[in-house]
Amino acid sequence: MKLTLLTLVAVAFSASFVRADDVIEEAMKKFHKGDTAPCKKVAAGTASDAELADILKSYQAMCGAKPPKGTQASWTEKCQALIAAVKQLQAKDASGAAAFKKAVNCKACHEVHKGK
Ligand code: HEC
Repeated sequence: MKLTLLTLVAVAFSASFVRADDVIEEAMKKFHKGDTAPCKKVAAGTASDAELADILKSYQAMCGAKPPKGTQASWTEKCQALIAAVKQLQAKDASGAAAFKKAVNCKACHEVHKGK
């Protein structure tokens, strides 16, 4: 309970102070963009522990940022799904790959949260 509250406070804090665009754009360019993007490896279940740790950190930062469009509640839900899936993979839970594939749906998220 205490942890949940702290997390909420942290999210609210960073949402108002972090330059949101930068955090999200950086995560997209680093992990999603292109044919050899790390997210493909994560979806295939072949990402290394270091790669998983890296992408997790980025998603956590993204979660605290404010998307250009859409509600914060929806954004948090989508980011948390990504985070949960990566954590499953870190725990060597094989269902994590399928959960990640669902969570990393580019179009579903862009339609709701990407501006322009
Ligand atoms: C959880 C939501 C979410 C998912 C999933 C997602 N994106 Fe994004 N993406 C965004 C948002 C929000 C932006 C807009 C960022 C901004 O303009 O500040 C964006 C922007 C981008 C950009 C433009 C970055 C730039 O240079 O400005 C690219 C490229 C991109 N996404 C690729 C992808 C690809 C490829 C996937 C799927 C493998 C994907 N994204 C999945 C939310 C998401």
